[in-house]
Amino acid sequence: MITWSDEYRVGVKEVDEQHRQLFAIAGRAYELLKNEMLTDKYDSIIEILQELKAYAVYHFQYEEEYMDSIGYAKLLSHKVMHADFVEKINGIDFRKVDDNQGQYLMEILEFVVKWIEGHILGQDKKYAGLV
Ligand SMILES: [Fe+2]
Ligand SMILES: [Fe+2]
Repeated sequence: MITWSDEYRVGVKEVDEQHRQLFAIAGRAYELLKNEMLTDKYDSIIEILQELKAYAVYHFQYEEEYMDSIGYAKLLSHKVMHADFVEKINGIDFRKVDDNQGQYLMEILEFVVKWIEGHILGQDKKYAGLV
């Protein structure tokens, strides 16, 4: 589970809002996955993961424009990291593992969440001058 906390703040209001929104979407996927009572939940989880990807793409574009506006020197390499991540997500076959889909989706979600978390702390904070 991923919970928003001040440690993730980069101090740019709109960016912080968008990061918080990414966490919230991921949190919804976790809740569904963990809910043992729900049957036929996998389509909904895949939908949320796709929503998460779409929102990440929207966020990356906003963030890249922001970095450009402040003349961030490492904009290009930051853009490459965003693009690599999107490419990885695009390469996921959500229906690959039918017999153990719950575990497969949890692994995808954990990968996505860890990437976002590490990227905010290690990279986004750089353009904000925090690391
Ligand atoms: Fe970023
Ligand atoms: Fe970001």
